[in-house]
Amino acid sequence: MLMMNSTLIKELADVAKDEALLQGVLMRTKETPNSSELVTYAPFTLFPSPVPKSVFIQALAVQTHFNTMVDKISQDTEFLQKALASTIEVDDFTARLFKIHQQILKEGRSQSVVLGLNRSDYMLDQREDGTSSLKQIEINTIAASFGGLSSRTPQVHKHVLKVAGRPEESQRILDNNPAAGLARGLAKAWELYGSERNIPTVRKRFDDVLETGSLDLDKRLFNTFFVICELQSWDVRLMMERSLAIKCPDISTHLAGTKKVQQVLARPGVLEKFFPDQPEVVKQMRATFAGLYSLDMEHEGDETVAMALAEPDRFVLKPQREGGGNNIYGSEITRVLGEVKESTERTAYILMDKINPTPIRNYLLREDAPLTISNCLSELGVFGAYVRQGEHMVMNECVGHLLRTKSSEHADGGVAAGVAVLDNPLLV
Ligand SMILES: Nc1ncnc2c1ncn2[C@@H]1O[C@H](COP(=O)(O)OP(=O)(O)O)[C@@H](O)[C@H]1O
Ligand SMILES: [Mg+2]
Repeated sequence: MLMMNSTLIKELADVAKDEALLQGVLMRTKETPNSSELVTYAPFTLFPSPVPKSVFIQALAVQTHFNTMVDKISQDTEFLQKALASTIEVDDFTARLFKIHQQILKEGRSQSVVLGLNRSDYMLDQREDGTSSLKQIEINTIAASFGGLSSRTPQVHKHVLKVAGRPEESQRILDNNPAAGLARGLAKAWELYGSERNIPTVRKRFDDVLETGSLDLDKRLFNTFFVICELQSWDVRLMMERSLAIKCPDISTHLAGTKKVQQVLARPGVLEKFFPDQPEVVKQMRATFAGLYSLDMEHEGDETVAMALAEPDRFVLKPQREGGGNNIYGSEITRVLGEVKESTERTAYILMDKINPTPIRNYLLREDAPLTISNCLSELGVFGAYVRQGEHMVMNECVGHLLRTKSSEHADGGVAAGVAVLDNPLLV
């Protein structure tokens, strides 16, 4: 079998890496992160991973509804306030975001155009009858990265499969271009901002903005119009939110992407409130929800604690953080919940059913790592882009996908955290 033929695998791995370099599947190195002289390939799987076609189509089909949902939540001040009330009492990060949100509401929003670039992430839960069901891990309202790389990885796997003598499978690798769709969103927003020139891009750290940025009388931010927020400096974040710039995400959309909001959305009747006349849409979205449980200081939260302590391996405990490496599993759940279960500190977390995908054997190609076969788990991301002007949704699209795969030894972590690698679905 191809998977176990070590000479052939070695050859294919070399071919794959060359192709990645050719296609621009690149990243800077750990040793010289600021050098433009020395780069390496971004880590990826040697082979694409099988994904059932029906599930893949299901994930794409529901994306525009999730875009709409995020956007509706971002405009519902009362909902956000209620959903996050217990969290902001104990979680400083969310509390600071919320404070900026309150401040902006008081002053009045200065920009009526909203740009949303989302990525909804899923894993395939293995059911007892052998089929798998699509379960949402989270929606990211700050995750435009990998749109570029995932637009380039299909060519790499197409080439590897051709060289491996599998032309038929090679043709089944889907083209993917989220970068173009995300850029269309940006361009639309830029047009509505009223600018006719080409879009100049400037990359700045929050600290640099703090040193050199200021708002003029029209609340223009040194003539840049778009700000993609990734790191936090609270003064800068407030200045950006006050500005006329079209923020991506703006502060309320950022809050709509928190894990606490995700948990509240899974409660009975909440989706219905946002989509009162669309039971089919509600059904489609809810079908992707895993069990999510509140840890608020009330009876329901007590039940959640008891349930988690009784069977910790069935769950994931999540704080309000992004970027991988923060979730808590198994015996750690017992330890952490044991410490916080009697205090309001527990409301900084939510509990979620653990999704169990079927492991798939593959090779993970990464700089300096040995070429060994691993049991792997994949996570499918679907990109969405939307633009709203006042009341009017001007654009709402599903713009592509991203498959990331990691060794099943790792419970947590993405590509940026050095755990997962880039992959492509092979529809089966
Ligand atoms: N319910 C779950 N079941 C199994 N694995 C999960 C679950 N939730 C998260 N994970 C794993 O943990 C990683 C990080 O969790 P996620 O909710 O996406 O937080 P982050 O904001 O850090 O990306 C995911 O990429 C996934 O690999
Ligand atoms: Mg994630």
